[in-house]
Amino acid sequence: MSCKDPAIIVALDFPNAESALDLARRLDPAQCRVKVGLELFCAAGPDVVRALHDLGLSVFLDLKFHDIPNTVASACARAADMGVWMVNVHALGGPRMLAAARAAIPPGGPRLIGVTILTSHGPDDLAALGLGDGYARVRGLSLLCREAGLDGVVCSAHEAPGLQDLRAGGFMLVTPGIRPEGAPPDDQRRTRTISEALAAGADYLVVGRPVTRAPDPAQALAVCLAEAQAARRPEISDTEREYR
Ligand code: C5P
Repeated sequence: MSCKDPAIIVALDFPNAESALDLARRLDPAQCRVKVGLELFCAAGPDVVRALHDLGLSVFLDLKFHDIPNTVASACARAADMGVWMVNVHALGGPRMLAAARAAIPPGGPRLIGVTILTSHGPDDLAALGLGDGYARVRGLSLLCREAGLDGVVCSAHEAPGLQDLRAGGFMLVTPGIRPEGAPPDDQRRTRTISEALAAGADYLVVGRPVTRAPDPAQALAVCLAEAQAARRPEISDTEREYR
């Protein structure tokens, strides 16, 4: 199976470059992309991003920048220098921070997306943060991101159906918290299966531990890819995929 625009993004949450590259070498860039998050980037930095690029993989640099506008803009510019496919910031950084991030990324640079409410947040977490109706805020935060010219948001697949009208023009919904049927949620609170997330209108699905912690990660990924292939939304045209 190959796909012009793979929907699955494998979260390479590993403590060192060797473990991450060991799995990455078994991935087909035509079938999936990879995500470098805080753990791997703290351990291995830009070198591991370069190594993943050398393997032909598209990299989502998931460092969730959230700081004053100038600092976030500078960080986004350095991420763009690395040639990554996608980078993200926290929508809760506010309109000026989002606008500064947008302005820092040159045309043709990485896709810039905003994290709305973390998929690990359950009602108790949101109440403790004073974000009682946090899930309703996902739409407001998504609108802020779109108004600032971002290319999409990270949200849970639970919220994706309520954001479909925002997708016109290529605004993307990236959903973590993906779990195969019956798999443990780990620390996630807003989970969906691959087919549920695609049916909910997600464009890209981030899958971490169900693949990376599986006894046979390559086999676990093959199962995910088959499910995604079977469920892929037919109404997204090939032209639109290529543009993205
Ligand atoms: O292992 P699991 O599939 O839960 O991994 C999900 C990945 O997506 C992690 O790397 C996590 O940092 C990331 N993520 C998330 N929720 C967000 C944004 C990113 O779980 N809102």
